[in-house]
Amino acid sequence: MIRVRPLAPADEPAVAALAARCELSGWDGPALAAERARPFARLLVAEAPALAGFVAAWVIDAEAEILAIGVAPEARGRGVGRALLEAALEGARAAHLEVRATNTAARALYARCGFVGAGVRRGYYADGEDALLMAWSPPASP
Ligand SMILES: CC(C)(COP(=O)(O)OP(=O)(O)OC[C@H]1O[C@@H](n2cnc3c(N)ncnc32)[C@H](O)[C@@H]1OP(=O)(O)O)[C@@H](O)C(=O)NCCC(=O)NCCS
Repeated sequence: MIRVRPLAPADEPAVAALAARCELSGWDGPALAAERARPFARLLVAEAPALAGFVAAWVIDAEAEILAIGVAPEARGRGVGRALLEAALEGARAAHLEVRATNTAARALYARCGFVGAGVRRGYYADGEDALLMAWSPPASP
């Protein structure tokens, strides 16, 4: 059973630790608090039943930008990432993100949720790796 809910202030230390375990930089406690203060930030955590993952997004005028998503290594492959991403996209009419070209798991998750390739930013990351741009729009209703 996966429960997705908004990130509360009390979650910040545990989410910061989880982000570090996921090798996601820039998501320490103060950064999470700063994001939470933005009215357009959507910060969610998943419990399964312990804290299993988090997602950070901006949603402005129903357009979502996925900033980060991380699932605890021991909780991966069980739908936690998908539940978080679907919750982050709820109500959005469009979404976009960038992902490291070599991040197979994240690319598979995004494709599974309906994101498609929308371009490449060559040498985007500090270590020279390319970023793939991916875009999403809601599935057409039948
Ligand atoms: C990317 C990540 C969030 C996926 O989380 P997860 O909970 O394991 O993903 P899910 O179990 O919800 O998988 C969803 C889909 O993604 C695909 N997928 C996930 N991990 C995969 C992997 N390692 N290899 C291939 N496909 C994979 C599966 O096809 C799955 O589809 P299914 O529902 O049909 O089985 C997780 O691997 C992670 O935290 N990685 C480190 C942090 C990171 O790189 N974040 C992205 C950049 S911010």
